[in-house]
Amino acid sequence: MVEFKVKDVSLAREGRVIIEWAEAHMPVLMELRRRYSGEKPLAGVTVSACLHVTKETAVLARTLKAWGAEVYLAASNPLSTQDHVAAALVEDGVNVFAWRGMSSEEYFWAIERVASAGPDIVIDDGGDLHVTIHEKLPQLAGKIWGGTEETTTGVIRLKALERAGRLLYPVIAVNDAYTKFLFDNRYGTGQSTVDGILRATNILIAGKTAVVAGYGWVGRGIAMRLRGMGARVIVTEVDPIRALEAVMDGFEVMPMREAARRGDIFVTATGNRDVIRGEHIELMKDGAILANAGHFNVEISIRDLESMAVSKRRIRPYLDEYRLKDGRRIYLLAEGRLVNLVAAEGHPSEVMDMSFANQALATLYIKRNRGKLEPRVYRVPEEQDREVASLKLKVMGVEIDTLTPEQKEYLSSWK
Ligand code: NAI
Repeated sequence: MVEFKVKDVSLAREGRVIIEWAEAHMPVLMELRRRYSGEKPLAGVTVSACLHVTKETAVLARTLKAWGAEVYLAASNPLSTQDHVAAALVEDGVNVFAWRGMSSEEYFWAIERVASAGPDIVIDDGGDLHVTIHEKLPQLAGKIWGGTEETTTGVIRLKALERAGRLLYPVIAVNDAYTKFLFDNRYGTGQSTVDGILRATNILIAGKTAVVAGYGWVGRGIAMRLRGMGARVIVTEVDPIRALEAVMDGFEVMPMREAARRGDIFVTATGNRDVIRGEHIELMKDGAILANAGHFNVEISIRDLESMAVSKRRIRPYLDEYRLKDGRRIYLLAEGRLVNLVAAEGHPSEVMDMSFANQALATLYIKRNRGKLEPRVYRVPEEQDREVASLKLKVMGVEIDTLTPEQKEYLSSWK
């Protein structure tokens, strides 16, 4: 019996069509699904996952089911669930607890619900499921062979748990695979963040000044894509090496207190809190647009914005206008949550193809190595990373050279 709480199961047909579209654009994950479906490597295994409930996540969930797993799924953000996709997954036998617009209490209720299924493997995006198990349900940890983590912020939280000596099971940092962060964080977020800004506002990007906070993998992608559409891009950073890289990539780099006066559009991508706060909002132009692409809705201080505003109105979904005392209007997109997942549809399927191929292979790795791994944060095995890249190149029809025996020897010699 499938257990679920979704918005409306009758949306399943609509969800199925879009999941099939995603499947057509995720050939690596589909190849892996086909490869292992016969042997059902996850038969009898319970997987609890906390992921954005999108069409791409559906392809992953259906793959885990095809491999024999019992899958429980909660949303990794209260505003990112695609309700038709959630409905279709219920029809597929996935236990889904997610709907768009959940309250914070409902969001954590759903996470506890999937944790309580007593998983063998835990898949997370952002760390809320892992942290819930550690803080509220540590008795479940004994059964858990291992977990995975999809994003930078989640990996940071898990490494902090490891440093504190409190990590209860091994976790594979899927985010840190090259075939994840180089593509998903950079090209996926770069494109879909612009998509989210456009869907929420339909502004012209050409000729605007955009400020990107953070020049990590996500920030690089966003800065690159905004520049590609004709914006003048300013980068803010706290890390001297990343700042230097931004300078040499041709961006203006300055502190936020200077950028604040100049920007028309602001996008935070730091994984940090209060990157844009009252003292910056104080300096902004009338009409400035604020968006966040980092995992949590803490990068823009909404508390400061709310306390500075004399009025607030919704212009349309995911576009809120705050009027300040002096009449200036500041626009906040997607309530400060990940703009690409809330105001648009998240990353394109082609890029999630690699991220979720890594997730799927990581579950097999955890099963194969159960009982052998320490409670630590592990990198994705190098062979897995290379396999995902090779498969992606193959489906893209790209061939590459191979080393000759002489070249191999030359590259491994000290002479
Ligand atoms: P990263 O660690 O590569 O980059 C973050 C950068 O922000 C670093 O260079 C750091 O020095 C900088 N930074 C930190 N505090 C800052 C501050 N106060 N002002 C300016 N810069 C500051 O991390 P990555 O991979 O770029 O991820 C960033 C965030 O985006 C994380 O929260 C991650 O989980 C999230 N993410 C969101 C996605 C989405 O779909 N929207 C996809 C992938 C990651």
